[in-house]
Amino acid sequence: MTDLVAQTNEALAAGAPALAACLSPLGRRLAFPPDIPFQAAQARGKAFNATIGQITDGSGRALPLSAIAGGLSGLAEVDRNRALLYAPVEGIAELRERWRAWQRARMPAALVARAPELPSSLPIVVDGLTHGLAIVADLFGADDRPLVVPRPFWGNYRQTFTTRTGSPVLSAPAYVDGRFDPLAWERALAGESASSPAIALVNSPSNPGGYTPNAAERSELLASLLRIADRRPLVVLCDDAYAGLVFDEAPAASIFWDLVAAKHPRLVPVKVDGATKELLYFGGRIGFVTFAVEPGTPAHDAIESKVKCLVRAVVGSPVATSEVLMLQALRDLPTAEAEIAATRELLAGRWRALTAALGATDRALLRPLPCNSGCFSLVELPEELGITAEQVRQHLLAHHDVGIVSIQPRFVRIAFCSVAEAAIPELVRRLELGVRELAAAAKSS
Ligand SMILES: Cc1ncc(COP(=O)(O)O)c(C=O)c1O
Repeated sequence: MTDLVAQTNEALAAGAPALAACLSPLGRRLAFPPDIPFQAAQARGKAFNATIGQITDGSGRALPLSAIAGGLSGLAEVDRNRALLYAPVEGIAELRERWRAWQRARMPAALVARAPELPSSLPIVVDGLTHGLAIVADLFGADDRPLVVPRPFWGNYRQTFTTRTGSPVLSAPAYVDGRFDPLAWERALAGESASSPAIALVNSPSNPGGYTPNAAERSELLASLLRIADRRPLVVLCDDAYAGLVFDEAPAASIFWDLVAAKHPRLVPVKVDGATKELLYFGGRIGFVTFAVEPGTPAHDAIESKVKCLVRAVVGSPVATSEVLMLQALRDLPTAEAEIAATRELLAGRWRALTAALGATDRALLRPLPCNSGCFSLVELPEELGITAEQVRQHLLAHHDVGIVSIQPRFVRIAFCSVAEAAIPELVRRLELGVRELAAAAKSS
């Protein structure tokens, strides 16, 4: 095993030196062990396969309970069988191939024309994007490696990175004077002298902001990330959970591809994406982790070996049933894409309704931040009101039959993705009324 780990690290140092240099102590220790799943994979298709501990009819077919098989009765025999048995640790090969094609079909058009051969790995299947983020945290995070993410950010990053690996969060405001700040990552690192690797998290469309940088901001962000990498090794983790849900002219393609194209010797782009939102499959728990290395290379197999070691150690293997159901959608792309486009239109209608309703509110009470994408909109409460977002949330729950999310210190997040378009004006009316009531009470006390 020590040899295997050394060989894996050597393959990475040779083929993906920037990535090798950013590995955490845990990341360096990882290699997929040549034990049961490894040996079972080698025996797949043999006449006598007595490797893996899954119960079959003796010829590779599952022996399911009728209620469970009945739930999958719409599937072809071969798919039903795959859904009922273990998936490979790295995920079902056809799903990985099809998801890679899905990702690459969404590269920025200008890059496709200029550099169609950009390297991207076969995406490794994980149990939802959260699991993918935790894997990236394990590979690169540690207490001397900051996670750089503008605030407000999705709070679970603290659990996946800081709580689990010790990576401290370095942050700067995502919005300055009501506008998105593409230099926020650089500002968060200002004054940092450390030469250790850092992990910059780029989440667009963002949660909780619902923002995707416009073309000019995107160029500034890209240049800024490259400047950071000039100074220290940098992993850029693209959390593309809400990919595709862009409602204005902002470029919808993941910045992952621009980072790959930049070929910076110290910058390591990593993409985490998946079916949760992109394919509207929240309960399926299918995510993917993708690196900028080409399939068929020793470095590709080495990083895959490390990720598989983590998957095997924590969840064993990803959920086969979900993978097979997702495959059905990817095999019929025209239908899936038409349905996704229809849902995007539905959300665009809610987004327009929310933008209009918030636009008509009193700026002395509510300051909507820029929002052009995703599932959420963020509103800042003016400091001079003297009230907290949590007070607003509690007040709306108790007196106005409204649930929203409060984010410290003075932001409220509205999930317009789950409110009917026709209900949005009334939701905003109650929010404004609640804030007005609380502000008046704060003034008179
Ligand atoms: C920004 C962001 N990243 C990742 C996730 C996690 O996705 P999943 O539900 O697939 O774990 C979410 C879910 O809300 C999210 O908002």
